[in-house]
Amino acid sequence: TCSWLKNMFTLYKHEEVWNHQQFLEGKILAQQSFKAHPSDVFICSFPKSGTTWLKALAFAIVTRAKFDQSSSPLLTTLPHDCIPFLEKDLEQIVENHKNSHFPPISTHLHYNSLPQSILASNCKIVYIHRNMKDVIVSYYHFLRKIVKLPMEDAPFEEAFDEFCQGVSNYGPHWDHILGYWKASLERPEMFLFLKYEDMKTDPISNVKRIAEFMGYPFTIDEEKAGVVERIIKLCSFESLSNLEVNKSGMHRVEETIAIENRLFFRNAKDGDWKNYFSDEMIEKIDKLIDEKMGATGLVLK
Ligand code: A3P
Repeated sequence: TCSWLKNMFTLYKHEEVWNHQQFLEGKILAQQSFKAHPSDVFICSFPKSGTTWLKALAFAIVTRAKFDQSSSPLLTTLPHDCIPFLEKDLEQIVENHKNSHFPPISTHLHYNSLPQSILASNCKIVYIHRNMKDVIVSYYHFLRKIVKLPMEDAPFEEAFDEFCQGVSNYGPHWDHILGYWKASLERPEMFLFLKYEDMKTDPISNVKRIAEFMGYPFTIDEEKAGVVERIIKLCSFESLSNLEVNKSGMHRVEETIAIENRLFFRNAKDGDWKNYFSDEMIEKIDKLIDEKMGATGLVLK
């Protein structure tokens, strides 16, 4: 149990990964029964790394012939409810496959935990990662708001220490990134690696890369007509976080569990960690990142 959350959130370790029970059950079910289709595209991420954003972008990209920015379901539906989640929406994905409908599928599973049929197929994987320090702060607020704890009752230092021990939903964070990173070196054609911070500094080229990789490249006419810019605007933090559905709706994770949609949109700032980390914490985490990721050349700091 996570003591900093007053034991209101219990995690279980399985295959070297920590999970909340419901995600663990979803993982095992997917491992036992999911059959990938070669046309599937997976959006893979560690929680709080920009999943909501990437889901919105992927959805807007693949549905752009059907909807424009004034009719998009993204205006009335949380991005998580537009794109099925492997650990939760298995039945829906099976139905989609039956109907030859292959929208992107998202998952937080570690690469080594992916159902065998995904690894055996020619599926594509879009992976997004974000610097570990901002992920910790984002995760801290997300969980403490879910269990409705004010900051004074949820010590950040304890949350930080647990995260650095690898104990978080889908933790360890670094193993998640490393698993996909190593696989991408072996099978580069299968992966598109994205960095949250890079997507912010250069959304246009990143959105074009995503579209092309997913098999939905923009035509020159579309580019000239400003379609890329319109998708970026529709999926921006400013637009999405101000929509009524994302301010007041609820996301049902399970029959008994619902999360307020607004919790997926906090402030989307890079470097917010500077407001939370002591010098000691910075030293500790920089050492951890060097230890775990130093050899990869992936910049996580
Ligand atoms: P912060 O908590 O730092 O604000 P995930 O979607 O993987 O759960 O990640 C959530 C983080 O992405 C949150 O970060 C959230 O504010 C940010 N986010 C949500 N929608 C976004 C968007 N459209 N553009 C950029 N960041 C977004």
